Amino acid sequence: MPLFSVPKEVAVGTAMLGVAFATGLLAGKRYPFLVFGSSKPHKSIIGKSSPLWQYILDHSLREHPVLKKLRLLTADYPWGKMMVSCDQAQFMANLIKLIKAKKVIEVGVLTGYNALSMALALPDNGRVIACDINEDYAKIGKPLWKEAGVDHKIDLRIKPATQTLDELLAGGEAETFDFAFIDADKESYNEYYEKCLRLIKKGGIIAIDNVLRGGRVLKPRKDDLETQSIHHLNEKLVRDARVNISMIPMGDGVTLVFKL
Ligand SMILES: C[S@@+](CC[C@H](N)C(=O)[O-])C[C@H]1O[C@@H](n2cnc3c(N)ncnc32)[C@H](O)[C@@H]1O
Ligand SMILES: *[C@@H]1O[C@H](CO)[C@@H](O)[C@H](O)[C@H]1NC(C)=O
Repeated sequence: MPLFSVPKEVAVGTAMLGVAFATGLLAGKRYPFLVFGSSKPHKSIIGKSSPLWQYILDHSLREHPVLKKLRLLTADYPWGKMMVSCDQAQFMANLIKLIKAKKVIEVGVLTGYNALSMALALPDNGRVIACDINEDYAKIGKPLWKEAGVDHKIDLRIKPATQTLDELLAGGEAETFDFAFIDADKESYNEYYEKCLRLIKKGGIIAIDNVLRGGRVLKPRKDDLETQSIHHLNEKLVRDARVNISMIPMGDGVTLVFKL
C-alpha cells in the first residue's frame, strides 16, 4: 500500500519504539504524536508520513498554543495515538462556531484535546459535557484546560457514557444540545448514536469518529467486533430517514450526522 509507505528517516527513528510496534509503524516527522501500524492504520486515511498530510497541516492548521502543548504532552504516552487528529479537531471547532453551538457532548475524552478545542470555540457560557470512564487521562489534561482559561466550560463526568447520556435525558435535556462527538468504545457506538440523537436539537450535528477503521470496514473480520459494530452503524446511517449525513475521509473517517 504506497499510501502508507514509510520514509527511511521515519522508519529509523521508529525502530526505537520497539517490538510492540513491530508491524511497521509510522511517525509523522514534525508530528511524532501520530503513530499507527502501517498494516492497521488507526487514525488516518491519508498516510501521516505522507508529504500531502504535512502540506494539509502547513496550509490549514492554526492551533492554539495550549492545544499544541496538550497534543505534544499526550503524544508522549504509549496510548497517545488514541488522540483525535488535530485537523479534525479544528474542523469540528469551525463547525461549532458555524452553528453557534452552546451545549456540546463528547463521548470519549482522553486528555481532552478535542474537549479543549471545543471549549475554546464555545461562548463563555457554553458547556462541554465530557464523558469518560477513566479519569487518569483527563487528570493529565486538566491543568492545560485551566491554563487556556476555559476549564469552567468543561463538565467532566467520570462514569460509563451511556449512564451520563441517560442522566441527561432523564434530567429533561433532550433536544437541548447542538453538537456531539462520539469517540469511545466502538461496540457501543449505536447506543451512543441513538442517545445523542435524542439529546441534540433539530439542525444539530453528531460527529462519529473512526467510521472507516483504517479501511477495515471494506471487509470486517469476524473476530473484529469493533469494526463489525462500526460497519453496521454505517449501513444503518445511510438509510436513516431521521438524518442527513456526510461521510468524510478525514482522520480515520468521520461521519457528520445532521438531525432533520
Ligand atoms: C479515542 S479516545 C478519545 C480521544 C479524544 N476524543 C481526544 O480528543 O483525543 C477514547 C476514550 O474513550 C474512553 N472510554 C472507553 N470506554 C468508555 C465508556 N464506556 N464510557 C466513556 N468513555 C469510555 C476511554 O477511556 C478513552 O479515553
Ligand atoms: C436532506 O437531504 C435531502 C436530499 O438531499 C434534501 O432534499 C434536504 O433538503 C436535506 N435536508 C436538510 C434539512 O438539509
